[in-house]
Amino acid sequence: MSLPKTASLQAFTLNNQKITIKNIAPTTTLLNVLRKKAFVGPKEGCAEGDCGACTVALLSQNAKGKACYKAVNSCLVPIANVINKEVISVEGIGTAEALHPVQENMVNLAGSQCGYCTPGFVMSMFAAYYDDNDVARSDKVFEGNLCRCTGYLPIRKALQSLEAPKSDDVFLKKLEESEFHGGSHGVQIEHNQITYNQPPTLNDALDLLEQNPKARLLAGGTDLILEIYLGHYKPETLISLEAIPELQEISIFDAQIKIGAGVVLNHVESELKGYFPAIDEMLNWFASTQIRNRATLGGNIATASPIGDMPIALLALDASLVLVSKEGERTIPLADFFLDYRKTALAANEIIETIIVPKTTNLNQSYKVGKRGTDDISIVSASYSIGLDGDTITEARLAYGGVAAIPARAKDVETFLIGKAWTKETISEAKTLLQNAFTP
Ligand code: FES
Ligand code: FES
Repeated sequence: MSLPKTASLQAFTLNNQKITIKNIAPTTTLLNVLRKKAFVGPKEGCAEGDCGACTVALLSQNAKGKACYKAVNSCLVPIANVINKEVISVEGIGTAEALHPVQENMVNLAGSQCGYCTPGFVMSMFAAYYDDNDVARSDKVFEGNLCRCTGYLPIRKALQSLEAPKSDDVFLKKLEESEFHGGSHGVQIEHNQITYNQPPTLNDALDLLEQNPKARLLAGGTDLILEIYLGHYKPETLISLEAIPELQEISIFDAQIKIGAGVVLNHVESELKGYFPAIDEMLNWFASTQIRNRATLGGNIATASPIGDMPIALLALDASLVLVSKEGERTIPLADFFLDYRKTALAANEIIETIIVPKTTNLNQSYKVGKRGTDDISIVSASYSIGLDGDTITEARLAYGGVAAIPARAKDVETFLIGKAWTKETISEAKTLLQNAFTP
């Protein structure tokens, strides 16, 4: 297949202004482009998605397809990903004479101190201001924004005392007028020996993959763009999965839930809350709002990190994966997907299409230990799924991250548990066995 390469497509909207992208590597971060074009409100603190100083808002869709503003780390968004999209930076929301309500609150309640991190806080608040879900005024809004001078209390107050947007608010009107028609334009950019492809359908992506067997698949980019930015990987051909509608669906059936591999984690959280405590709990500790607005469930599996959070919960829940290629599709248990350190059963011509999670009445829960409570990788993580018949254990899956080269289950301990009574003594014996289950 061939994708359009017209110059008119290679532009994005920034604060209502068209910005054309020319002679820029497609993997250049949005942050670098903004700052080069003298939009220096977004700051580079860490360039790794940790501090939130670079936060901007993307006009996007929520899980229900309704227009919304999403806070994202511009240091992790490749410029090619925002083509034909609309970005709002702190420069676009207010002026010194007419501050935006979130800026006004930050000023009036002394939320702006050093000022370096303030634009990032303001943009996280901006996105939350137009969001009517129940976390829009909670500390979750700021979990990806670092204030080094301990100014969180006035910042929190500035968020919590926000009123609802007025009906003539221009940003609210923009949301009401935005229409997304499903489907998307294909995009291709070539620069400096890097080719970025953004196919509009799964079939197009499979065609491209067949033609370019060495291509890397790019989902939310929160891992891969960092790898590229740090110089650990030099891409030649990238195939972005971002615009493929088939990968964005969540379908709930009687016995199972199918989640498209391209569904971002914040949509998994909002759509599936209450189905799987093990997933709910893990998402609670998974990175930050900005990262979960970009990172996809399929990406977190495909990257095959031994400390990836979601594979642990999904292993305990006995999930399986649908892998597609031009030859057809196959379904494999997630437990068979991880082969060795960062090596998976995904063939070069395959894409993860769907994650299937069986519904369960088993007790299931996740635990994560990291250096920080939120916005950090795990040192060790665990998810459990225990089936009971009365007091007897009939099913047991214990999955761990950070204890081996791959996300792994403690099979011997599971075997020990089955048929035993669900008592403190049984758990205590299982804990002893667990000490020998892995040699990290
Ligand atoms: Fe720190 Fe982007 S610069 S999150
Ligand atoms: Fe910038 Fe706290 S206000 S570090």
